[in-house]
Amino acid sequence: MKQEIQQIQAEAQADLATAQNEKDIEAVAVRYLGRKGALTGFLRNIAKLPPEERAAAGKQANAAKQSLETAVRKAREELERRAPEKTAAIDISLPGRPAIPGHTHPISQIMQEICSILERMGFSVAEGPEVETDYYNFEALNVPKYHPARDMQDTFYISENIVLRTQTSPMQIRAMENQTPPVAVIAPGKVFRCDSDLTHTPMFHQVEGLLVDENISFADLKGTLTAFVHAMFDRETALRFRPSFFPFTEPSAEVDILCVMCRGKGCRVCGQSGWLEILGSGMVHPNVFRSVGYDTQRFTGFAFGMGVERIAMLKYGIDDIRKFFNNDMRFLGQF
Ligand code: DAH
Repeated sequence: MKQEIQQIQAEAQADLATAQNEKDIEAVAVRYLGRKGALTGFLRNIAKLPPEERAAAGKQANAAKQSLETAVRKAREELERRAPEKTAAIDISLPGRPAIPGHTHPISQIMQEICSILERMGFSVAEGPEVETDYYNFEALNVPKYHPARDMQDTFYISENIVLRTQTSPMQIRAMENQTPPVAVIAPGKVFRCDSDLTHTPMFHQVEGLLVDENISFADLKGTLTAFVHAMFDRETALRFRPSFFPFTEPSAEVDILCVMCRGKGCRVCGQSGWLEILGSGMVHPNVFRSVGYDTQRFTGFAFGMGVERIAMLKYGIDDIRKFFNNDMRFLGQF
């Protein structure tokens, strides 16, 4: 009996010595110490031995069990010390997780589309600061301090004279300061207003446009914006120019397209009017030319500004602007 235990022990040690990895060690542990293991079976059979042999046999078998348990633990420690990464039981034959490729955000896509249509017409792109001075954002655009038109936009003030730009229109001034006519620029970028609901977020995107030269008329404005709308939506899209007010243009007009939801019948989206506003525009106000030193007798021009989110919402039929910024991949992945 003593021999039997010694033999089991020797076999277990030999098996353990050849164990190469965690799987092998586990197999040894199961083979000898597991529920159906050799040592376990032996211990169970002690009860069947003659009473005078039981004590000695039990003692020996328990000692063997303990020493084997220690040996298994040591073998694991040794393995861990030699190659820690192997013990993590990585199965390198498993297929990998597929990488999800990123793609352009829908707002960036629309912004690129707007810019590429206008670039093909001859406008060049200019970008400017998001933190702007009161002068560029308001003063130079014919919006003096205490002018009621400042209430049209809920401005984030950094200090008395520094703001987060509320519009991309300050780029009109920066562009004109940098060059003499002809000027044909567009300015895409982020703008900020203290406003948040279904159709407003505190940060959104605009694309500004400016064309200045001799003999630019309202007909040029209409032709350019009509061509733009037809390229952006489709050739059949009906649009109208509706008289409006902006401090930096005179006359001013807002451009509406026929409601993409109800095709003009009147619905919740268009507020029963059948039309959707997509941009503001007008002939550059002489005071704006004066602030950059342009000759108001010689030059005329038109300007326009549009909200990128708004155009994206109309184009894709999205009713909540906040969806663009919640970073829900199920939403963003559709574009
Ligand atoms: N800046 C205006 C706004 O944010 C949009 C706009 C209207 C821009 C008329 C223009 C313009 O250049 O001529 O509401």
